[in-house]
Amino acid sequence: SMEDHLDKYTKLFTLTAQRMRMIVDAFEETLDKGLQEWGQCVPMFPTWVFGSPTGSEKGDYLALDMGGTNLRVCLVSLLGGCKFEITQTKYRLTEEQKQEDGEKLFDFCAECIKEFIKVHLPDVTAENPIVLGFTFSYPCLQERIDHGILIRWTKGFGAPNVEGHDVGELFRKSLERHQVPVVLAALINDTTGALIASQYVRPTTKIAVILGTGCNAAYTEEIKCIGKLKDKGLNGDDVVAINCEWGAFDSDLHQHLPRTKYDLHIDEHSNKPGEQAFEKMISGRYLGEIFRLVVMELIDEGAMFLGQNTYKLETAYSLDTAFLSLMESDPTDELLTIIGIFSHFYGLETTLAERQFFRALARLIGRRAARLSACGIAAIVRKKGYLEKGCDVGADGTLYNKYPGFPQRIHQALVDVLGEQGKNIKTHHAEDGSGVGSAIIAAMTKARKDAGK
Ligand code: BG6
Ligand code: GLC
Repeated sequence: SMEDHLDKYTKLFTLTAQRMRMIVDAFEETLDKGLQEWGQCVPMFPTWVFGSPTGSEKGDYLALDMGGTNLRVCLVSLLGGCKFEITQTKYRLTEEQKQEDGEKLFDFCAECIKEFIKVHLPDVTAENPIVLGFTFSYPCLQERIDHGILIRWTKGFGAPNVEGHDVGELFRKSLERHQVPVVLAALINDTTGALIASQYVRPTTKIAVILGTGCNAAYTEEIKCIGKLKDKGLNGDDVVAINCEWGAFDSDLHQHLPRTKYDLHIDEHSNKPGEQAFEKMISGRYLGEIFRLVVMELIDEGAMFLGQNTYKLETAYSLDTAFLSLMESDPTDELLTIIGIFSHFYGLETTLAERQFFRALARLIGRRAARLSACGIAAIVRKKGYLEKGCDVGADGTLYNKYPGFPQRIHQALVDVLGEQGKNIKTHHAEDGSGVGSAIIAAMTKARKDAGK
């Protein structure tokens, strides 16, 4: 019966508090390893974003956001007093664009900016250029703030001739080729942007997480705790934002995460097998696919849709994570939303028992993702000793913002792993890290330069 099946999947997808504590222990150790030595599995990249914003940053800046789903150009006016205004245009990146040559990809970005300037910023010219922050949300090894070597594409990107190259340089060349009147001031990760944008409005923020197409975190670290920066002549008392790139957790030895055969299938069939083990169990790019693989298994076992044509469901990635959100939030007893999804998108008829199973399955997958995310947060919290005083965590991305109950599940999991004190860790929606955060970082960079640092 569907109930027996559900029991089986409940066992597979449930993370006990004890299991989570083991993950947190290993995670904490991994984070520290990345801080002490270069080239680790979780790389812990120093971002060269020093200190925190004051809130009085001012001026107009452009931000380009290449996140995973959309390409956005934003004009951000920082008004001081922690206030800002933003004007933006979104462009959709096609799957083909994600795979075509890097030069073409950055040329497209340059063209979008040029177009945006023409429409919104008639005063910006070659003699009077505008400062740009480029939010490029993939793992980059940075030697300075406007430089970053792409270590590996994530989130399904595969554009050739970018991995191993300085993205700052590639993009600057595209800007020159298209004569776009901008000065590239900073290359930033979306987590770093979210951290700084959150600190701008809530200075007690120490950590930021992105839970969307990908999953990752950044946090504020003291220079003196970063062994691998020892010889760089930096002030040990200063702080710098660290882009953890924690999506890669456990990708080296696969010792800590309880991967199911569905997780293994996703990994093996991805364009990057063996990479981003943690992210592949959590982020929005993969949750729908995990769900689909379970349903395909039941179809193969003859447990559902007998005599119906299931070919539409057989296509990889044909079930979007947004469907899991919808299934979980279906308010009707008959589960009418789920009827609609299966009949409309896959031409399939469902029984009430099947629909109840689907909703329960979505819950299992969604809850596991939230609990794993909480393990990462808990590891940073413990590492930095924030448990007693508490700390604020900025959070953004479609999963965090749109998936029903995701923040609540994270909070519950934090209490499960950290005990009652876990209640001192609070997440808040971060206001547009890629736009506002990027602009603030550009302003902070300029201020530091002007001060001769
Ligand atoms: C946006 C942030 O809201 O969320 C971006 O401003 C971030 O910085 C993005 O990259 C991530 O979410 P998703 O779901 O689009 O990957
Ligand atoms: C992926 C990227 C990372 C980004 C995250 C969230 O993990 O590698 O840089 O921060 O997705 O968008």
